[in-house]
Amino acid sequence: MRSIALTNQKGGVAKTTTTVNLGACLAQMGKKVLLVDLDPQGNLSSWLGLDIHNLERSMYNVFLEEVYFEEILTKTCVENMTLAPSNVALAGVERILAHEKGRDLILRKRMSAVVNNYDYIMLDCPPSLGLITINALTFVKEVFIPLETKVLALNGLVTLMNTVQVVKERLNHSLEVTGIVACRFDGRTNLSNEVFNQIKERFKDKVFDTIIKENTRLAECPISGKPITLYAPDSSGAVDYTNLAKEVIEREDRMKETRK
Ligand SMILES: Nc1ncnc2c1ncn2[C@@H]1O[C@H](COP(=O)(O)OP(=O)(O)OP(=O)(O)O)[C@@H](O)[C@H]1O
Ligand SMILES: [Mg+2]
Repeated sequence: MRSIALTNQKGGVAKTTTTVNLGACLAQMGKKVLLVDLDPQGNLSSWLGLDIHNLERSMYNVFLEEVYFEEILTKTCVENMTLAPSNVALAGVERILAHEKGRDLILRKRMSAVVNNYDYIMLDCPPSLGLITINALTFVKEVFIPLETKVLALNGLVTLMNTVQVVKERLNHSLEVTGIVACRFDGRTNLSNEVFNQIKERFKDKVFDTIIKENTRLAECPISGKPITLYAPDSSGAVDYTNLAKEVIEREDRMKETRK
């Protein structure tokens, strides 16, 4: 099992787009995938067709220990891919738990029973480094950082790396940033190339070779209720995310080889 938080405190960098589409590609390759929506915006849940204004149970109830994690899971249109949904109620969790002892460990505690049921557990984090993101970082072993290659991103990335380091030291020794995904890449601009080269120079092998290009099909995709591989299978977005999933698996095979 691999547990991965998709995190970047900057908004709109393709965290949700990457969670849905990478998750779906892995599931379509036969892996058992669980997606966890940790954003009160509920973008991941509505992308996968849920009416987020009328959720009976969601991650909110899990955080407040009102239900078991398994009880909120729903199937998705992709075989092998399950979703733990969220909606705006989740925004209340930060305030309600603000002074609770052990508040950083809730997710780890609540999800421990299901970790062995999946090959990949992917958590779509909100655009902040608050309590919910810290809970995600305390639970997972890995962090993937999607970043938009249309703006210079190095400063925000350093802040994020520092947060990961602090959580690693204090709460979760096994935490590592294992993947940086260059998203919304526009090859016609010098800026995209420059950002990619800068990131590559600074973070080397952590950066995936696969680049997710700017693609209008990906921008339209959320209202279809499906991942890009079902909505527009021939689009560059579908090809890019399929290649990313292959690279994720290849790197894993390589890691296993070196450990032998
Ligand atoms: N490769 C792409 N090509 C075109 N549009 C994209 C691409 N990736 C993401 N987008 C669009 O960019 C916007 C932000 O993407 P997304 O919602 O995935 O980011 P996010 O990091 O999850 O945002 P938030 O921080 O608000 O949760 C969305 O409108 C999405 O459709
Ligand atoms: Mg999002």
